[in-house]
Amino acid sequence: MTAPIINGKQVSDDIRESIRQEVAALAKQGVTPGLAVVLVGEDPASQVYVRNKEKACHDLGYYSEVHRLPASTSQEELLALVHKLNEQQNINGILVQLPLPKHIDEKAIIDAIAVEKDVDGFHPVNVGNLVIGDDSLLPCTPAGVIELIKRAGIEIAGKHAVVIGRSNIVGKPVSLLLQRENATVTMCHSRTTNMAELARQADILVVAIGKANFIDASYVKPGAVVIDVGMNRLENGKLAGDVDFESVKEVSGPITPVPGGVGPMTITMLMRNTLVAAKRAHG
Ligand code: GUN
Repeated sequence: MTAPIINGKQVSDDIRESIRQEVAALAKQGVTPGLAVVLVGEDPASQVYVRNKEKACHDLGYYSEVHRLPASTSQEELLALVHKLNEQQNINGILVQLPLPKHIDEKAIIDAIAVEKDVDGFHPVNVGNLVIGDDSLLPCTPAGVIELIKRAGIEIAGKHAVVIGRSNIVGKPVSLLLQRENATVTMCHSRTTNMAELARQADILVVAIGKANFIDASYVKPGAVVIDVGMNRLENGKLAGDVDFESVKEVSGPITPVPGGVGPMTITMLMRNTLVAAKRAHG
């Protein structure tokens, strides 16, 4: 039997519709959420991401600024821009697209972003609040994963969730969020010796390792929920997840495709964070 497909595009469209309604209500109070995106250099993938963020702002009625800076921009120049955006009343969210050119210290830039405008959720104060369980701006892809699972009608509490990958951007925060939702969480990574055995114990398997089609059916318990965070560009130009979708969907329960699963959720969660930041800024 083939598993149900979790449609990330549909879920994302539904959330955007509710955001649009909130934006309309805020507009009546004279409030427009504002997002500043900063791109340094000409990385082609980053250019696409930034264009999509700009488009989402336009689509949802946000104020948007995109700062495209040359790869030669110095760290001081970038810090000066971040400081200026921190002070700007019409900007509620600041996103500096990563990766940055090698001569710029990413940590110094992230640390400089005002905590309340850090819509990526990468600032150490937001990360710390996530660990503690206090209110914070949540990192977008992990928040999107949780939202997808919930909106697919899947109960998280009491389940065994296995997260494969321990990156700061996905693996670590997604495991904390699953724990916050009362799952029992196991984390696997490149040095885990019995990964398939652990993965097969998962009721919910979240994969974020950046290796195309790495997880096959031997990693999946029959009926398990499979969330694929991978986005790998194959030599033929096609996009592939970390999960071998064709074989896994024959054994799994609900599963996300790539593209059309977690991907569409990330920008939507960024827009939600910006809306949250705007509402907090206006009391
Ligand atoms: N580059 C790839 N993904 C991301 C992200 O989520 N945020 C930022 N700022 N840069 C990225």
